[in-house]
Amino acid sequence: MVLGDITRQNVTAIVNAANSTLLGGGGVDGAIHNAGGPDILKECQEIRRTVYPDGLPTGQAVITTGGKLPAKYVIHTVGPIYGREPDRESELLAACYQNSLLLASQHSISSIAFPSISTGAFGYPKSEAAKVASTAIKNFLSGDTQIEEVRLVFFQQRDARVFLEYQEFE
Ligand code: APR
Repeated sequence: MVLGDITRQNVTAIVNAANSTLLGGGGVDGAIHNAGGPDILKECQEIRRTVYPDGLPTGQAVITTGGKLPAKYVIHTVGPIYGREPDRESELLAACYQNSLLLASQHSISSIAFPSISTGAFGYPKSEAAKVASTAIKNFLSGDTQIEEVRLVFFQQRDARVFLEYQEFE
């Protein structure tokens, strides 16, 4: 766990809390596109044109260049908007972590940084998200040998404190 800006993390891949358009936004999405430059958006547009013409579904993940970021890759995933699908939101949030980790492992990526997906504009309660994210990461890593570091990046101290209190790693 670290406090800081995900765009500054020196890992092989960082995860973007994107929306289904893959065409940018605010928060983490805005920060990554601003810091990473236009090549990231170009590859997102190509993914929309070829693989996901109707947009990236919630819970799915795709990978692009990291552009000018320290990270080589950006893995874009779309978290659930809290309250949209009450009986599926935890499963969809878990899928964001699992599919991002799976993509990283498939690309022989050994270090990956996550923001706190869905807990900003998408309104997922941070305490609930902490349980879902930690369980999904723990379960994935128990069956994977490729990934060596999963870094959880928090923008504010209080977010890190909430995560620490509600995580279920141990
Ligand atoms: N580095 C790390 N964490 C960050 C950063 C950053 N540079 N900027 C924001 N955060 C934190 C927020 O404080 C929040 O805890 O990331 C978490 C996720 O917030 P959002 O970026 O709002 O992501 P999300 O809640 O998944 O909403 C996604 O917002 O930006 C738009 O295009 C995006 O429509 C999508 C929606």
